[in-house]
Parts: sequence; C-alpha cells; structure tokens
Amino acid sequence: MMPKPMLEIKNVTMKFGNLVANQDVSFTVNKGEIVSLIGPNGAGKTTLFNCITGFYKPYSGKIIFDGEDITGKTPYYVAKLGLTRTFQIVKPLKDMTVKENILTGAFLRNPVRAQAEKVAQEILEIVHLTDKSDILAGSLTIADKKRLEIGRALATDPKMLMLDEAMAGLNQTEIKEAMDLCLKLRDEGITLLIVEHIMEAIMPISDRVVVLNAGKKIADDVPEKVTNNEEVIKAYLGERYHAKSKKS
Ligand SMILES: Nc1ncnc2c1ncn2[C@@H]1O[C@H](COP(=O)(O)OP(=O)(O)OP(=O)(O)O)[C@@H](O)[C@H]1O
Ligand SMILES: [Mg+2]
Repeated sequence: MMPKPMLEIKNVTMKFGNLVANQDVSFTVNKGEIVSLIGPNGAGKTTLFNCITGFYKPYSGKIIFDGEDITGKTPYYVAKLGLTRTFQIVKPLKDMTVKENILTGAFLRNPVRAQAEKVAQEILEIVHLTDKSDILAGSLTIADKKRLEIGRALATDPKMLMLDEAMAGLNQTEIKEAMDLCLKLRDEGITLLIVEHIMEAIMPISDRVVVLNAGKKIADDVPEKVTNNEEVIKAYLGERYHAKSKKS
C-alpha cells in the first residue's frame, strides 16, 4: 500500500535578514508515522516548526497538510485543520489553573463548556495531571509544565502533533513515560513529528529521522541508517552515540 502523506514540506526556505535558517528543506511525514527532526543547536528545527504551524511565513516553498496547502495560513487555521504543536519554551497561561489551560485547547472543537470540560478531564488523565487540575499553571514543576503543553495541544484533537523538545529537563522515568505516551498517541492514529536532543528516547520510537544541519537537510532515513551516517555523526551525533548504538 502506498503511504499517505500527512505533511509535505516542499523546498522550504526561511530567512532572517541575511541568515538562512532553513534552506530548501523537503521531506514528508506519512499518516501514522513518528518522524523525528534532529540536528545541532541553531540547525533550524524550531524555525521549521514555526513555518509549518503558521507562526512564520516561509520565504519560499510550500507546506501541504492532509492534502491542503497551508503555506502562510494562521496558527489558528492550521490547528483547526488538525495540526498542532508544543513550544520549546513552555508557554502555560500562568495565572490560570491546569484545567483551564487544557480547556483553552478543548474549546477549539467544543464551544459548549460542558463538552469542553469532558474533553479536558480525559486529557488530564492521559497526561497524568488530574491531581493537579486546580493548581495555577505557573507553579508547576518543569516536568509538569511539559505535560501541560502536550495536554493543551492534545485537547485540540489533532490529526498530527509536533513536539519541540517536550522531553528536555525530564528525568529517566519521565522520559520513559513521554516515550510511552508518544507510542500510545501513534497507536491511536495521531501522526507525530518530534524535535528532540535525547537520542536514547527518540531513536527507539521513530519510524524515520530527518537531520538538519545549518538549515539544510543532510539525512532522512530509518534510525539505524541515520545513526551510522558519517555526515550526521560528524555534524551532530558524535562518536559516543555512534559507538553505543553499534554495540547494542
Ligand atoms: N526570530 C528570529 N530572528 C532572527 N534569527 C532567528 C530567529 N529565530 C531563530 N533565529 C536563528 O535561526 C537559526 C535557527 O534557529 P532555531 O531556533 O530554528 O534552531 P534550532 O534547531 O531549533 O536550535 P535548538 O536545538 O537550539 O533549539 C539560528 O541561527 C537562530 O539564531
Ligand atoms: Mg529549537
């Protein structure tokens, strides 16, 4: 069966003045896949997320989501179509409770409060925040803020979810939970694009890995191939992860 593309990134270039943050980047994420986007600091990963989700309009190129051209559309429009993301720098609505934060996501598809509340309760369970639902979001630990980010995105009932370093700052147990959550969401039919620096977490769960370096795509393959790709090792992975992954 031919894989169905959920997200198609076609020759996307994004510039800030003279700085080319994304240069002619193309790749596809198929329905039901977990694809990871990796690369060194400043490679252009977050910039690409911002282009895809309508926070930036790319300088050139096209972004197709579920068959529709979304290039230059607003984040709200894109979310309504079913594509949503979390932020590398968590953005909880600090003076609102955890539950109210989740509700802001749930209202996208549930304008009636009672319906939105029901969705929010389900999401609180999924992200393990039920016990903290009445706490102000600003007082959460970083791990819980990351969970809240995912919860708020999930509450919009996305077809595809994009996570920007949702595991950064988590301990081993929390990382394992986050990995399990990604697999669970995938099994429920949500397509995932994940930006992450924790290779031990993403290599085992990714169907494919796309590598950016200095704004350009340098690899796009299954994890085993990417971890042994000389250019990727040189630009990002280093010998350490390479050696470790070879042994196991
Ligand atoms: N709003 C902006 N204005 C100007 N330059 C920017 C802006 N956003 C990003 N950049 C620059 O674009 C390049 C890519 O940055 P980006 O944040 O996309 O990298 P990244 O791959 O997400 O890095 P990290 O792994 O550190 O999060 C960097 O050189 C960065 O300084
Ligand atoms: Mg980033």
